[in-house]
Amino acid sequence: MGAAFDYAKEFKSLGLNAVIKDLRALMTDSQDWWPADFGHYGPFFIRMALALRRHVSRGRRPRRRRRRSAELRAAQQLARQRQPGQGPAVVVADQAEIRRHDLVGRPPHPHGQRCAGVQGFKTFGFGAGRVDTWEPEADIYWGPEGKWLADERYSGDRDLQSPLGAVQMGLIYVNPEGPNGNPDPLAAARDIRETFARMAMNDEETVAPIAGGHTFGKTHGAGDAALVGPEPEAAPIEQQGFGWKSSFRSGKGAAGAGPIPDAYDTSKKHGPSTLTTDLSLRFDPAYEKISRRFHKNPAEFAEAFARAWFKLTHRDMGTIVRYLGPLVPKEHLIWQDPIPAVEPSRTSPP
Ligand code: HEM
Repeated sequence: MGAAFDYAKEFKSLGLNAVIKDLRALMTDSQDWWPADFGHYGPFFIRMALALRRHVSRGRRPRRRRRRSAELRAAQQLARQRQPGQGPAVVVADQAEIRRHDLVGRPPHPHGQRCAGVQGFKTFGFGAGRVDTWEPEADIYWGPEGKWLADERYSGDRDLQSPLGAVQMGLIYVNPEGPNGNPDPLAAARDIRETFARMAMNDEETVAPIAGGHTFGKTHGAGDAALVGPEPEAAPIEQQGFGWKSSFRSGKGAAGAGPIPDAYDTSKKHGPSTLTTDLSLRFDPAYEKISRRFHKNPAEFAEAFARAWFKLTHRDMGTIVRYLGPLVPKEHLIWQDPIPAVEPSRTSPP
C-alpha cells in the first residue's frame, strides 16, 4: 500500500458481512495453543480491543504499558492468523472493534453465563476508520519511569502527573490488586476515578464498562510473577511477539473447586475470583449507588454499558464524519464534538 492508498475509499468496497462472518468463525475456532474459554474468544478479544483503543488510537503502539496483558499478545497472534479473504485488508484496530461489535447475536453461553451481552446483547453501533500505527511515535511521553511497574508519577496528595492516564508504566489503567498491590478497594477507587476521568468518563461511564466487561470474561491469573520471563521486546528473537513466557504449568486445563463452572471441563468447578478494583465498584459510596441501580435494572445496565463501550472505543476518532460503514449509529453524541454544517455565507470571501 503506497501513500495514495485511501482506506476510507477502499472500506466502501469491503464486504463487511463477509468480514463479520469470518471473524465469527475465528472467535469460535478454539486453538490448542491458546484454548478459548467456554469455546469462544469473545471476552478475550474485547479485552484486546480495549487495550488497543487505549493506545493505538492516538498513534501509540501498545508496547510499554501492557505489563499485565500477556494474553493480549495471544489474541493478536490469533487475529493475524486470519485476514479476511475479500476486499482490502481491514486494519487490526478496526478488526478488533468489529469482533467486539459482533458479540451481537452470539449464542447463549453453554454454561449459562447470565450477562445480557452473551444472550443477545445489543451494541450501540460501530464505526470503522481507525489508524493502524506500526511503530511507536518518537515524541510520546510515557512517563518518567525506565523500569516495568516503577512508580514515579505521583506527587503530593496522590496527584497523577499530567497527561498520563495509567498509574504505573506497564499497566493499562490501574493495578487490579489495588494501588501498588495494596488490596484497598477505596484507595483503588480513587485511582480508577482519576484514570477514567482522563478518558472523559464520569462515574456511571466507569462502573458500566468495568462491571459490564468483567461480566463477559474471566480472570485467569498468571501464576507466580517470578515465573514470568522478560517482556516481549527483551525476549529471545523466536519468542518475540508471543507475549510474556511463563514457566508456570502449561496454562491449559481445569483445576480447583467452587461454584463457577470450568471453561473446559464441565465436571469441574472453581472458586470465584474478584479483583480489588472490582470491589471498588461495591465499596466506593458513589460507585456503589450506581452498581446497585444497575443490579436492579439490568436493561439500564446494558444500555449504559453499550454507550460507555461505544464511547471508549470511538472517542478518539474525532468527529462523526470520519466514521465509516453501515453500522454507524444515527444518534450524535456530545463527546463527538458535533460541529454545524458549513454555511457558505460564512466561509465564502465577501
Ligand atoms: C479498572 C479497570 C480495569 C482493570 C484493573 C481490569 C483488569 C483486568 C484483569 C486483571 C483481568 C484478568 C486477566 C486474566 O487474568 O486473564 C481482566 C479481564 C477482563 N477485562 Fe478488565 N479491567 C479493567 C477494566 C475493563 C474494562 C473497561 C473492560 C471492557 C469493557 C474490561 C474487559 C475485560 C474482559 C472482557 C476480561 C476477560 C478477558 C478474558 O476472559 O480472556 N476490563 N481485566
